[in-house]
Amino acid sequence: MVKVLVVFHSITGNVMKLAKAIADGAKEVGVEVKIKRVPETVPKEILERNANYLKVKDELEKFEIAKPEELANYDAIIFGAPTRFGVMSAQMKQFIDMTGRLWMERKLEGKIGAVFTSNEMPHGGKEATLLSMLLPLLGHGMIVVGIPPVKELFKAGSYYGATSTGEPKDIDLEVAKILGKRVAEIAKKLFS
Ligand SMILES: Cc1cc2nc3c(=O)[nH]c(=O)nc-3n(C[C@H](O)[C@H](O)[C@H](O)COP(=O)(O)O)c2cc1C
Repeated sequence: MVKVLVVFHSITGNVMKLAKAIADGAKEVGVEVKIKRVPETVPKEILERNANYLKVKDELEKFEIAKPEELANYDAIIFGAPTRFGVMSAQMKQFIDMTGRLWMERKLEGKIGAVFTSNEMPHGGKEATLLSMLLPLLGHGMIVVGIPPVKELFKAGSYYGATSTGEPKDIDLEVAKILGKRVAEIAKKLFS
C-alpha cells in the first residue's frame, strides 16, 4: 500500500491541527497515513511557561517522534512547521539537516513532497516559509506538490502549501485536506 507521512513541528497546536486535516485528506484516497512530530529542542521549563503549549501538550505528546532515516520508508512526505521570523522553525530545520545520509544515498529521490505552515500575522511570512521549506525537498530530488487554483484557495492557503493565521479556521482545514488528498492521489498514481 502507498505510504504517506505527515511530519510536523508545533508548540501551540496550530500546525498540529493542520497536520491532522492533511492526514484526513490523504486517508480519503485509501493510502496508509502516519502523522509524526519532530523532536522538540526548547527546554521543558521554558515550554511550560507557555499557557497555549500547556493546553495542547498532552495531545502533542501522543504523536510518535519521527527519525530522519525512516523517511525512506514512505512514498510521500508532507512537512509542516510554524513560521519563525519568516522561515521554518529551527526544530524542523534540525530534523531536515539530519537527512544528509539519505541525501548521499539518494533515498528520497522521486518521492512526493509537500509543505505547510502556520504563523500569526496575515503577512508574517507564510509564503516565504513555504517556499524555503520546499528547497531542501528539491535538493533531495523529491517531486514537490502544491495546491492548484481550486475555489477554496481564493480564501485560504497558498499555491505553495497549506497555511493558517493563528488557530486554523474551517477553510484552512479544508485547504489542508485538499493538499493531503492531492499528495495521496499523485503518490497512488505513481507508486501503486
Ligand atoms: C520565535 C518566534 C518567531 C515567530 N515568527 C513569526 C513570524 O515571522 N511571522 C508570524 O506571522 N508569526 C511568527 N510567529 C508566530 C508563530 O508562527 C505562530 O504562533 C504559529 O501559529 C505557531 O504554530 P504552532 O501553534 O503550531 O506552534 C513566531 C513565533 C515565535 C515563538
